[in-house]
Amino acid sequence: MEIVIKPDGLTGGKGVRVHGDHFTCFKGARDYAKQLLTQNTEFLVEEKIKGKEFSLQVFTDGNSITPMPLVRDYKRAYDEEKGPNTGSMGSYSLPSHDLPFLSKKDIQSSIEILGKTVNALKKETGTDYKGILYGQFMKTNGKIHVIEFNVRFGDPEAINVLKLLKTDFNSIAHQIIDGTLGRTEFSNQATVCTYLVPDGYPTNPKENRTIKVDTDINADLYYASVYREKKEIKTTKSRAIAIIETGSNLEEAKQKINDNITKIKGDLYYRNDIGVLL
Ligand code: GLY
Repeated sequence: MEIVIKPDGLTGGKGVRVHGDHFTCFKGARDYAKQLLTQNTEFLVEEKIKGKEFSLQVFTDGNSITPMPLVRDYKRAYDEEKGPNTGSMGSYSLPSHDLPFLSKKDIQSSIEILGKTVNALKKETGTDYKGILYGQFMKTNGKIHVIEFNVRFGDPEAINVLKLLKTDFNSIAHQIIDGTLGRTEFSNQATVCTYLVPDGYPTNPKENRTIKVDTDINADLYYASVYREKKEIKTTKSRAIAIIETGSNLEEAKQKINDNITKIKGDLYYRNDIGVLL
């Protein structure tokens, strides 16, 4: 059986070591485990599974959950799921709020897993878990597996879903606090979000390089790990800018990304297959 070693806690998507990618024998796995133990970091040893990942985020007031549109994010650095793991290179969602590789039953069971998790949290801790629950799942051999939970929005999945949110966010936050969470509405559009990252990211990123954005760019930009110096935007070692577009279908949203992403210039790269490799 191939395994994965996963530090217990946040690692910016870069702490997981996967058999075949980071080590090829038992000794490699043991060396990483020893390194984590020296740092007093607890870790999980899990079976490696292969399949398509997807993210399901829900709002919860501790009693009920309301699902957001499903999102697929792309963790590998290069096109066609090649290269090292990253914090995520981009994500897409569909106007129907589902994903092409998931059946209705898959979606239902993912929602049920999150609902049961919220119930279990209440039962085991006596406290209502209120806020956002993020489930990262993988479909493999026709089955849905949990990869991880986060008690926050996904990055960049938040950008996809919040772009579509029609219900007032403030009112959702109040309903969560009051325990009266109702329906939330999202518009039926496709979204494509692509991250521009420094050349060499994630292993040897070129930091302190100037990024220039043409003034005629027609897209929403979310500046991530960058800083300003003498009126210039500079890269750091992490993801630089997310660009998000919507469309009546995925092709339209992707075309808008293609039309605008080249207007962001610098020692940066991005994946071309976000929203194409379904
Ligand atoms: N997109 C992965 C995460 O937010 O953890």
